[in-house]
This record gives sequence, structure tokens and C-alpha cells, in this order.
Amino acid sequence: MFKINDNYLKLPGSYLFSTIAKKVNAFTEANPDKKIIRLGIGDVTQPLAPAIIGKLHDAVEDMAHAETFHGYAPDLGYEFLRSAIARNDYADRGCDIGADEIFVSDGAKCDSSNIQEIFALDNKIAVCDPVYPVYVDSNVMAGRTGTYDPKAETWSDVIYMPCTAENDFAPQLPEETPDLIYLCYPNNPTGSTITKAQLQEWVDYANKVGAVIIYDAAYEAYISEPDVPHSIYECEGARTCAIELRSFSKNAGFTGVRLGFTVIPKDLKCGDVALHSLWARRHGTKYNGAPYIVQRAGEAVYSPEGKAQLKEQVAYYMNNAKVIYEGLKSAGYTVSGGVNAPYIWLKTPDGMTSWEFFDHLLEKANVVGTPGSGFGPSGEGYFRLTAFGNYENTVEAVERIKAL
Ligand code: MLT
Repeated sequence: MFKINDNYLKLPGSYLFSTIAKKVNAFTEANPDKKIIRLGIGDVTQPLAPAIIGKLHDAVEDMAHAETFHGYAPDLGYEFLRSAIARNDYADRGCDIGADEIFVSDGAKCDSSNIQEIFALDNKIAVCDPVYPVYVDSNVMAGRTGTYDPKAETWSDVIYMPCTAENDFAPQLPEETPDLIYLCYPNNPTGSTITKAQLQEWVDYANKVGAVIIYDAAYEAYISEPDVPHSIYECEGARTCAIELRSFSKNAGFTGVRLGFTVIPKDLKCGDVALHSLWARRHGTKYNGAPYIVQRAGEAVYSPEGKAQLKEQVAYYMNNAKVIYEGLKSAGYTVSGGVNAPYIWLKTPDGMTSWEFFDHLLEKANVVGTPGSGFGPSGEGYFRLTAFGNYENTVEAVERIKAL
């Protein structure tokens, strides 16, 4: 009889956003007349920018002619896209990253869950608490996290780095030495950031203890303050200790289009084995590349028109963030985030648990958010709202919450 990967059975419940979707669907079925406003999952609502749509049309046309048709994409992604990324996201920020150190993929969610495959099972991971659940769940599936304590909602072999109001939602260096450190800045879910000096401490620490930082910079386009790093490679020494994950979902609205990339510098080695070659081997074996059409659309993100249009789109969402932040603050809520990130992190009122507040908001205001405890035990008593809704709905949601 075959055996399953029983690590899957260790996973508590379903994926956070699936649980929320089920609850919301049940509510809408029971209350078909209610207009629900969804500020839960960080999914975008604005259409693709005209520069991207134009490039998509052109690329579709390419596929209609033998001379310009494209089959399988190159393993690492098309050169035209990797060079545009290397130039705009790295060289222009003074980071030393070559186009051949960039692996194009269909998004940061897959990369952030798959990257652990190239590390040994007895590596110890450290995560922020609260954290984007994919980092932990993918390590659970691989069998790297030990046993689950349902009371504490923690895994025995995971190092949790609490991010709370007391430390301004920035983790301290852990007491126990990790092998893999997951950091996400600007942060999902708290919307917080760290300065370049703080990130440099992490880079120095990782180089000192021989750890790898898996740095998720999916929200970098939302940075508005000058001292906040856009890439970990702005820090000295990051080439020998850091992998960076990027996404086109949040800066360019590609959640339904799918495009992202991972950077692995060739200097990042375990002994004389370069992680770059392991990931290249994995990519070549398990992946056939993001579609040509989508990679062309990604190229448009870096065109002058694309950049200008996306700046406006980001500003649109950040105006929503301001509406939420200021609206809730004026109503007496304790709020943070929303300045360098499209997420607002608020303390639940009246001692309610995160899920109690979720139900309260859904039933009384017909607004969907994300319970902080879904991101980890230190998220209990907190709640996340996203700025990715449309403006009118965002204003209405804030008015409804204020009226509660
Ligand atoms: C979120 O809501 O945390 C994000 O949408 C998750 C993701 O990007 O996969």
C-alpha cells in the first residue's frame, strides 16, 4: 500500500485565506442581500496599466506568427526581462546583481514555498511572528518543523521572533542560532518596515553565524520613506548570505497574471557549492518558465510609461491606506503600518480575539479583514486590513467600521 507524505497531516486547518473565503461564502449565502466589502486577502482591484495591456496585446500577436512565435521559455527567464530587472531594480539602486543571478518565475508565493527544497531537512528556520503563513506551512510539508503544539500554536523546531508593539514590530536577533531566516520587508502582515541600518545588522549576523536570509521584498514598491531599503543587496555582505524574492503582483497588479523572480547571487555558497546552481538545477527540472506573453508584460513594467502608470497605481492604493489608517485612528483604534506598505495593522477593540473581531466585522459591518492570529500567536488581538480595495469601497468600509 502506498504511503502519503504525512507531514501534510500535521498542518492545522486549511490555508488561512481559504478558511476566510469559506467563512465569507457561508455568510453571503445566508445573507444574499448584504454588500460585503473585502479587505481581507491582499489581492489587487485596479486593472492592468495601459502600458502592460499594450505589451500583452503585442505579445499575443507575436504568438500568432511562426517568425515571432515562442515555445518553452529559457530556464532562468527571457534575457529581455532579466536585464530590465537587473538594471532597474538593482543597478539603479547601486546593488551588484547580474541578470544571470535572476530566476524568473510565476510568482513569489511559489518561490517562497519552494526555496526550502534546496536546504537540508535538519536546517532550523527562524520566522517573524506574525508571519506570512506560506513560509511556515511549506516547511511543515517538507518535515522540517517538528511537532505542533495546538495550545501555543507553535512548532517545536521553529524559532519564532515576536514582532509586537513593544519592539515596533521589528524582530530581535534570535537567541538560538537559525540556519534559514525568513524576513519580509515591507512587512506582511504588520505593514512595518526596518531601516537599512537594522537590515545591515541581520546581514552581518547571517554572515557571522553562517545562516541564509530569505528576504521577501514583494511590497518594495510601497516604500515611501527614504531610509527604508528596497533590496537586501543594498546592504554590504548580502551577496554571501541572502536570497531575495520579488513579485509583480503588488507593484503591477499581476495577481491574476502571475510573475515574480528570485535572486540568488553566485557568491552565496555552502562550502564550495553555490546555491545558485542548486536552484538552477531545480528550476530546470521542475519548471518550464513563466509564459512568454507574461514576461513581455513584465518588461513593460520597466518602460517609462509603465513606471509612470504604476507609480499612480501604487499612489492610489496608498491613498486607501491613508483613508483606513486615519479613519480608524480617529475612531480610537490603535493602528500601525500603511505608510510603507499596503497593510494596516490594528489592535482589536474591547479585548476581542482576532477571530471574534473578524466575525463581528463581517456580521455587523459586512467588512472582511484578516485575523492577526492567523499569521501566528503574536498576531492574536490584532487584525489586518488591506489597501488593495477600490477607493469607494475603502471609504465605505471605514465609515461602517467607525459606525459600529
Ligand atoms: C496576503 O493577503 O497576505 C497576500 O495576498 C498573500 C499573497 O500574496 O500570497
